[in-house]
Amino acid sequence: MKICVLNCSPKNNLSLTLQTILYLQKWYQEKLNEDKFDIIPAFSGSVTEKIEEAIKKSDLIIMSGAIFHFDVHSSMGELLDVLSENYYDLIKDKPITFLSTSGMLGDTMAHNKFEMWAKRNDLRYINSLSLESAEILSPTGREELFCWFKYTKAIAEYYRDKNMPRAKKQGRVVLLDTCEKENTRIRSAMKDAKQRFEDSGFETEVITLREKNISHCTGCQCCFSNRTCIFKDDWEKTFEKLYLNTDMIVYFGELHYATLGNCYKTFLERHACLGRSGIEDEVIKSYFFILDEKSDREDISAFKFNCETFDGLNCSYLSDICELGSSEKMEELYDKMTIAFNSDIMPQNGFLKNGIRTGFAKVAASVKNRCPGDYSYFKKLGCYDTIPVSPYIQWLDNAEDAKKDREARLIPYRMTLMHLEELPAITERRKNKSISVIKRQKAAARGFEDALHS
Ligand SMILES: Cc1cc2nc3c(=O)[nH]c(=O)nc-3n(C[C@H](O)[C@H](O)[C@H](O)COP(=O)(O)O)c2cc1C
Repeated sequence: MKICVLNCSPKNNLSLTLQTILYLQKWYQEKLNEDKFDIIPAFSGSVTEKIEEAIKKSDLIIMSGAIFHFDVHSSMGELLDVLSENYYDLIKDKPITFLSTSGMLGDTMAHNKFEMWAKRNDLRYINSLSLESAEILSPTGREELFCWFKYTKAIAEYYRDKNMPRAKKQGRVVLLDTCEKENTRIRSAMKDAKQRFEDSGFETEVITLREKNISHCTGCQCCFSNRTCIFKDDWEKTFEKLYLNTDMIVYFGELHYATLGNCYKTFLERHACLGRSGIEDEVIKSYFFILDEKSDREDISAFKFNCETFDGLNCSYLSDICELGSSEKMEELYDKMTIAFNSDIMPQNGFLKNGIRTGFAKVAASVKNRCPGDYSYFKKLGCYDTIPVSPYIQWLDNAEDAKKDREARLIPYRMTLMHLEELPAITERRKNKSISVIKRQKAAARGFEDALHS
């Protein structure tokens, strides 16, 4: 496969994103024995002959760059516009994705913009990756980079022949009907989805939320201290059925003011009894929707953001959202989910998740004595640590000083990233898979997690 990276970092050789790309290039050529991986400096925002040539020859385009002020860097923004307006024929059949490094502050917005650009121009969009600069050096950071790369390559190959992928290991998919009333279009879409996943080798289960007896959360807060809801209804059973042993969840529903409607919200509110910011399982999720008569196009963009917020509550990898309609697009998304499953794709920890986490940490701190489990959980994550002032900080007063400072900061990245060892070991995902999610949450809140596994 021929890969072309358009590097839009304004720092050129002093760019951290570039170091990440160099690392990928080394893996690709030395460990995976693949042939072509061009890195093209594309900082200026215009399409040079070199860029044109590289794109023409490539099977996959990776746009790389940093997040500046919650958005892609301006030169990358310009390049995206020039590419879609003046070079559309050149890019229209090329799988395209985006890799960024940042402080993970507003990265979701930049990635959403890239996705919107790719989708509104009907391009072959591949889910992008956002890496925290400090994390690239860590084993987790490198593992995340590798899994994403594996996924990206697999999707680029999939776009060549569009063959339905098969699950590489045993997997379970839940199809969740969130509609208040039965809807024939949704019922028939779910039937097709079930067939597609079963043909790919998954065990598939359908859950219809409206058939469950689930009471509204009254906000009594009893569960804050004892982790047990006052209602004894179908919530626990439904929750376990949805999450226990599950690898992927496909949501179906009617878009109602940019959300999935009240039936799903009622179910979601009861998650409060699990405490913290939700559950810690990694699940691949996609959302399929129809528009109600009041919806418009803006609702769809807002819905994407809402889904990411739900995913902030449940630590998950969001595959995508898709309007019910073109069966080709829907099948493509089911296939992309299967490829994500085969690639051990890692969940993304973007700005929204961290934002939500901070909010929950504040609540836990304020009711510290009533829910000590949550308090110690957030403390363990470092939510209440104060950053000590570094004695080495010095004032930079000219551009030369600043350049030296950037060079110095790059030394550990250069050393680590250029000395390639083996491909990263992929940690066992969801090792607690078959243990009740509810029991695990309750035990963890009381600090019994280790005891549960011993
Ligand atoms: C002017 C400026 C603005 C930035 N804005 C953001 C931001 O909004 N969110 C964020 O997470 N990081 C932000 N960053 C941090 C960079 O995204 C981060 O350091 C990145 O790894 C730099 O990549 P590069 O070395 O390839 O340019 C900003 C950096 C600069 C210099």
